[in-house]
Amino acid sequence: MSSKPIGIFDSGVGGLSVWKEISNLLPYENLVYFADQKNCPYGTKTEKEILELVAKVCDFLISRECKMIIMACNTATAHAIQTLRNKFPHIPFVGMEPAVKPAIINSRTHKIGVLATQATLRSEFFKKRSSKYLHEQSQLFLQPGHGLVELVENSKASSPEAKALLESYLLPMINKGADHLVLGCSHYPFFHKIIQEIIDAHSSEMTILDPAEAIARRTKNLLLESGNLNDSPLPPFFQFFTNANIVALESFINKELVQTKNNLNSSYEIKL
Ligand code: SIN
Repeated sequence: MSSKPIGIFDSGVGGLSVWKEISNLLPYENLVYFADQKNCPYGTKTEKEILELVAKVCDFLISRECKMIIMACNTATAHAIQTLRNKFPHIPFVGMEPAVKPAIINSRTHKIGVLATQATLRSEFFKKRSSKYLHEQSQLFLQPGHGLVELVENSKASSPEAKALLESYLLPMINKGADHLVLGCSHYPFFHKIIQEIIDAHSSEMTILDPAEAIARRTKNLLLESGNLNDSPLPPFFQFFTNANIVALESFINKELVQTKNNLNSSYEIKL
């Protein structure tokens, strides 16, 4: 058993959608979250830029003695996870993977929408992982989510602006008969309610797939297999770091973690 923390990071607040699932499934784990808000969004950057940023964040999490690192960011995973695994062979990394496999298995129309950043969609990682599960009839509608990450970061995930942008991204795939929507960016689960409203308003039965729960299960399995699960019954300690916007991070945490899910009944601190 290890009481060292699990490190979780994202370009901003999006990775808190994964943080929630990890803290639900692993209630005794100490967690250190890093939001690289100074460099957000990652989705418009080159692979070289993403790699440099992610390496710095991992150096920081390792300096906080994290026993494992969760890349709660699809863009970072797609462009950097393999290099970071090679750089830090003693640290287990868990990355995000858009839920294309379950979408293909469960689709009746064989038509699947994928909403992700431009950088994720153009990556070899995404192309390889998704093409592995495709069969002759499958059709993937790839939609870059330009502007969506910024809306979440600016607390506008429920705004009319967000609804209009999402409608423009989702209606074409709904009209073509997609019956599954894969969320390929950890910021997008914060649009879940609006997306469901758009689906319902167009009498579609499209199912929304968010991989966060699967990531939490994978994290638990890896900790169990390596004997690193923290089974101490003491309440865990949570730390949240940002390199830019502490006010925005704090209000997001209050809204999304304290008020809605009650995950934060433990002690926690938010730091710049
Ligand atoms: C971004 O920073 O552009 C998005 C992060 C993600 O892909 O999850």
